[in-house]
Amino acid sequence: MKFFVDTADVADIRSLAEAGLVDGVTTNPSLIAKSGRKMAEVIAEICAITPGPVSAEVTATEYEQMLAEGRHLRQIATNVAVKVPLTEAGLRTCRTLTGEGTLVNVTLCFSAAQALLAAKAGATFISPFVGRLDDIATDGMQLIADIVKIYRNYPHIKTEVLVASIRHPIHLVEAAKLGAGVATLPPAVIRQLLKHPLTDRGLDAFLADWRKTGQSIL
Ligand code: G3P
Repeated sequence: MKFFVDTADVADIRSLAEAGLVDGVTTNPSLIAKSGRKMAEVIAEICAITPGPVSAEVTATEYEQMLAEGRHLRQIATNVAVKVPLTEAGLRTCRTLTGEGTLVNVTLCFSAAQALLAAKAGATFISPFVGRLDDIATDGMQLIADIVKIYRNYPHIKTEVLVASIRHPIHLVEAAKLGAGVATLPPAVIRQLLKHPLTDRGLDAFLADWRKTGQSIL
């Protein structure tokens, strides 16, 4: 499974990338706003330190303007994936940009029907938001199960399921068990994945026993 980091915080991306935990990055207008930086500048910096796709989202809602923004974002770096909303204009922009060889991430997906439309528009990635569905007492992981199952029924569909709005480690484990290709995770959730009390306790015990030997490896 590929891990994308869901943030526009360059320091966080850099430290996680150094640990080999970054296959890509996803941003959105809220995360760019949170970074307090100019979009083109921060996207360029993220693209330079990220091995894989970096999603940068358009903010227009009409086709012509959305396409112009998408083409502009694509010029920032070769690993930019243009992010478009799951609207009619968004799908039309998706078809045009993918036709030009640009990676496109169709975002704000909340139903299997929407995901099928995005695949028909040639999307590179579909981003279903599991946490926001859970927020309204709807089972977000059931949507992932449905989309993965539907996409598997049609081998010509190359769209990857990019699980988004992940709030905790169980979302990731369930997405992996369902066979989703990508998950985008806030840095804090990636760090939660690392944690296990038995790992900490086991390490403490090893180190306590080692200290008793008075030895040092170096
Ligand atoms: O990539 C989408 C994600 O940033 C939204 O997450 O936690 O705001 O629902 P959240």
